[in-house]
Amino acid sequence: MKLLKDVHYKKHVLVCCNERIDRECCANVSGKEIFAELKRWVIEQHLSSDIWVTRTGCLGFCNKIGTTVVIYPDKKWFLETRMGDIDKIKQELICQ
Ligand code: FES
Repeated sequence: MKLLKDVHYKKHVLVCCNERIDRECCANVSGKEIFAELKRWVIEQHLSSDIWVTRTGCLGFCNKIGTTVVIYPDKKWFLETRMGDIDKIKQELICQ
């Protein structure tokens, strides 16, 4: 095991893109689109050395409305997130 200490990212964004066929999942409620848009926006804004966006598996808040997004170290969880909410997520990311 390797321990990576003092990672330089200020914020880590987790976007659920989990896919399932037997019940609701974030892949079916814009998870992949929100992940792609946040990645695109971070690069466009030249924030990629400060903000790391990662797609994840299930974060435990599956629903039929929108994906689950988490921002660390802020400990902010956004449930039922839709594309229409993405500006709010971006605003959270540029706030200190
Ligand atoms: S599938 Fe995204 S929170 Fe469960």
